[in-house]
Amino acid sequence: MAKVTIDGIEIEVPDGTTILNAARMIGGKVVPPAMCYYSKLKKTGGYCRTCLVKVAQGSAKDPRPMPKLVVSCSTAVQDGMVVQNITSPEVLEARRGVVEFLLINHPLDCPICDQAGECKLQDLGYEHGLEKTRYEFSRRKFQMIDIGGKIKLHMTRCILCYRCVRVAEQLTDKRVHGVMNRGDVAEISTYINNIIENDFSGNVIDVCPVGALTDKTFRFKSRVWFAKPMDAHRDCKRCSCKAVLWMKGDDVLRVSARKDKNEEIEEFICNECRFEKKKKEDWVIEKPTHISRQSVISQNHYEVSKPLKLGTGSQPPKPLLNTE
Ligand code: SF4
Ligand code: FES
Repeated sequence: MAKVTIDGIEIEVPDGTTILNAARMIGGKVVPPAMCYYSKLKKTGGYCRTCLVKVAQGSAKDPRPMPKLVVSCSTAVQDGMVVQNITSPEVLEARRGVVEFLLINHPLDCPICDQAGECKLQDLGYEHGLEKTRYEFSRRKFQMIDIGGKIKLHMTRCILCYRCVRVAEQLTDKRVHGVMNRGDVAEISTYINNIIENDFSGNVIDVCPVGALTDKTFRFKSRVWFAKPMDAHRDCKRCSCKAVLWMKGDDVLRVSARKDKNEEIEEFICNECRFEKKKKEDWVIEKPTHISRQSVISQNHYEVSKPLKLGTGSQPPKPLLNTE
């Protein structure tokens, strides 16, 4: 075990744990943002640099600070390490720079993007972004393409985090897409506009941190914060089918996988559950999905964490929160 202190909070973690995962064990504001690392997939991290932190003390044995900021998603903790995330002005300055770079080519089309409200770059831009761009050159542009009947690729929005490539590599047996070319012409592509067709390809939509890969069956149907997310499951032979139904009245607008507290998929779901089962009767609805209070999606969705107790007076108390 190794003792590590992150932003003044000490925690003991198993040897080999990365700084990011140690911070996730503490939770809250000390967790660095991660746009490319995905704990449910192998070989992720190291691309986006949003998770940079300062190591103010390398270890108990060698207390010298690390000379440069390090990527927390791929740096393992050492016993006695002292890490600074939001307490370091240097880290915040570097993160501002990373966000500025990520936004150089990313279109600011949030008002029409289906990912708005769930977009990690939107959150990052809000917290660390500049009010205006300093970039004067023409931006990278790509044509939108359909990769298969159900997935739309809007490459102009892509930040090349490689998460979708890892999904294709690790979840599907017939991988047909990846990153082509290099530098600012690098793009996610299927090579000669092939289509992605396998049972788990839809998970690329959920892992994409921005609106580059979107669900064609949901595009432009609703803003996510107008839909009501409900945890549901069904009897499926391919996957655990633990899903979230995004509902408007009795209509199922979208089906997505459930996400954990780090906004990562809990269990990958198959395409049949995601794209074909769009009727309420196809599912057993469990309960309203827990959405963080900080998320714009939680607007108008109230949950009651504890059952309300009836009062002892003649009139039962009125619930302040409407759970319907
Ligand atoms: S399409 Fe999305 S998931 Fe794939 S590399 Fe681009 S940003 Fe990442
Ligand atoms: S999350 Fe660490 S480099 Fe992207």
